[in-house]
Amino acid sequence: MKTVGRYGALAALVLATPLAAAEIQAPVVTGAAGAAGMATPRKPEIYKDGWIDLDKNGVKDIYEDSTQSVEKRVEDLLGRMNRAERIGQLWQLLIPGDPAKDNGLPGQGAIGSYLGYTSKLEVRNALQRAAVEDSRLGVPLIFGFDVIHGMATVCPIPVAQSCSWDPELVARTSAMAAAEASGMGIDWTFAPMVDIARDPRWGRIAEGFGEDPWLDGQFAAAAVRGFQGADPRAPEHMAACLKHYVGYGAAEGGRDYNTTEISPFTLRNIYLPPFHAGVDAGALTLMSAFNCLNGIPASGNHFICTQVLRDEWKFSGFIVSDWNAVAELIRHGYAADDADAAAKALTAGVDMEMVSGTYHDHLAALLDSGRVKPEVLDEAVRRVLRVKFERGLFDRPYTVAPAADPAAQAVRTALAREAAAHSCVLLKNEHGILPLRTDGGRIALLGPLAANGDEMLGSWSAIGRAADVVPLNDGLAAALHGANLVVAEGCKLTGQDTGGFAAALAAARQADVVIMALGEPRGWSGENSSRSELGLTGVQQQLFDQVAALGKPVIVVLFAGRPLAIPALQEKAAAIVMAWQPGVQAGPGLADVLTGATEPTGRLTTSFPHSVGAVPAYYNYLPTGRPRDQYKDGTRAPLYPFGYGLTYTQFAYSAAPVATADVAPTGTLHATATITNTGPRRGSTVAQFYIHALASTAGCRPVRELKGFQRVTLDPGQSKEVTFTLPAKDLGCFTSEGQWVVEPGRYEVFIAADSASGSPSALRLTEK
Ligand code: BGC
Repeated sequence: MKTVGRYGALAALVLATPLAAAEIQAPVVTGAAGAAGMATPRKPEIYKDGWIDLDKNGVKDIYEDSTQSVEKRVEDLLGRMNRAERIGQLWQLLIPGDPAKDNGLPGQGAIGSYLGYTSKLEVRNALQRAAVEDSRLGVPLIFGFDVIHGMATVCPIPVAQSCSWDPELVARTSAMAAAEASGMGIDWTFAPMVDIARDPRWGRIAEGFGEDPWLDGQFAAAAVRGFQGADPRAPEHMAACLKHYVGYGAAEGGRDYNTTEISPFTLRNIYLPPFHAGVDAGALTLMSAFNCLNGIPASGNHFICTQVLRDEWKFSGFIVSDWNAVAELIRHGYAADDADAAAKALTAGVDMEMVSGTYHDHLAALLDSGRVKPEVLDEAVRRVLRVKFERGLFDRPYTVAPAADPAAQAVRTALAREAAAHSCVLLKNEHGILPLRTDGGRIALLGPLAANGDEMLGSWSAIGRAADVVPLNDGLAAALHGANLVVAEGCKLTGQDTGGFAAALAAARQADVVIMALGEPRGWSGENSSRSELGLTGVQQQLFDQVAALGKPVIVVLFAGRPLAIPALQEKAAAIVMAWQPGVQAGPGLADVLTGATEPTGRLTTSFPHSVGAVPAYYNYLPTGRPRDQYKDGTRAPLYPFGYGLTYTQFAYSAAPVATADVAPTGTLHATATITNTGPRRGSTVAQFYIHALASTAGCRPVRELKGFQRVTLDPGQSKEVTFTLPAKDLGCFTSEGQWVVEPGRYEVFIAADSASGSPSALRLTEK
């Protein structure tokens, strides 16, 4: 799995060994004489919970004084740093498993950050101690790690969580991840990933929040709030990192790391807004992407890293490059050699270099030659220091492992279960086969994912352990007290072995209902895991076909890190639940939904294509002059559109909303629809509010653009009016140059259960 492979032996699946409280609380004696230009350095006093009183020379300098403003502390410290120390702040390396192998870098102030995870907290604290206590100025390191959807308590993958249409849920799971990870020495997570992804072949669609820029922005802000909290200095929080800036999800052919060509209009209106939302929410850092964007690699791209991010959005944190991305400017054919790459990346606005060492090796000479201006270096250092101050690292550089708390773990488990249940999407439910009866009957649970814990963790599962996962079979067995549940694997996820078919078919023949747990391996999504086909892997489709031919009702529970193309399942299954990769509480969360203890509330945030050839199938496409763009042998329409998802009841929406006819540019439009629960149970629907601009000179606008949603819960027979209000200015869009324009003219509004249903009402935005 990626994380283990990447971090090798360091990613031991053991919880952090706490640093002994006595060790960290004992005041440390005054240290040896220090470097030139300083009075005798003192070791800082260390207090409970890792707080220190930094004072290197017996005089409380401004940067050491936590009562001073961040900006004053930054400037004071920067003024004291020599060139080597400044350059050192801009380098991030993989954390060494043994502090003795740090090459002396932290003690010399020659490194600013480590990435990766060590299960030995004392390793992390020893490296930090070298930076804080041995280096001349005591600038702390910042430790980063990919905590994407949980640290130990792994929640559903991000695309799954986005299907909750509940940003607060993402804020809560992110806060939980931060609480766990920060207690294990992580100051900074490389998340959230807010790349818009329109192509399910791209494996990293798993890591983002779907295809809509506005909704993605809501989740981006929520994740930042969750990770960083109201005060990122608090021990239980960590700095967030919006990635991968920008356009990475538009990789040609869905092939990871590939070239992207995005028009300025689309860049401004589709790919940049989620990053902007995350910046506005206070994200402390961004990660520059691997891809080449319109001819210039993102990690050497001044336009996006400086002009847009700093000049337009006023972002004051720092950019870290993606892994080795600065050195890869050479492979892109953008830089001639390492020195050229360093100059281009830093000048573009990439402040910290991850893993490759071009800044470390070449910046001094580049400054000497005048190719890189000292102000450019200083600005990058300033940004890194600012984040370290804002994260509170100067005041609390050491991590003290929190005491084990079974009550807190129970709360975390409950949240993971809630997230698993609220992330899954009911795609089909013929004759109300779901919810399952819990009071008896014979159920055959078949398929390679029926009793599999490890596969539930998804990509980037940090230190999540398969042993902590409750798989589907266990979740169902606990929920279906009276049922006779027979489990048969049938086949593996990959390979051509059909040897298990006979046992699975035999179990199906004996059953009243068959549940099939099918999908793709978790290693087939995530980084560097693109696919050219979007069906079930291995011989699962054959197994399904043979089981379906028995004539028993088949409920498919589908596990994947991406939308799959599953027309044959849609045709033959009685019900389909898209479960994604639900995390450690997969079984209980799914059992809650399958039994109806929790209603299915999820709605898709990525369109599901009919076939791989119909990719991309995103909902917010541009209209064409000749809308006959069907295939001879298929349809462009998605099998399941963005926003789609069923419940255990039914809802009727009034045909078209009643909307304000004329709206002034300073006014607000209102649109109202009536929604009725026409089914047999209490349930909820996600009312979605879309607009369509009919004549836009800034650039053609999509057939629909999501502008809001409301969850509406109704009893059977109950109706409710829902009203959306939108300031007229929000009807606008960005020009290719980045100006927000609101053009008078005709617009349409929809209130619908998904992006493909509902009828529009017309309105006019007046000149004045
Ligand atoms: C990925 C990033 C990740 C980084 C550090 C890269 O390969 O693209 O998303 O944060 O590695 O692990």
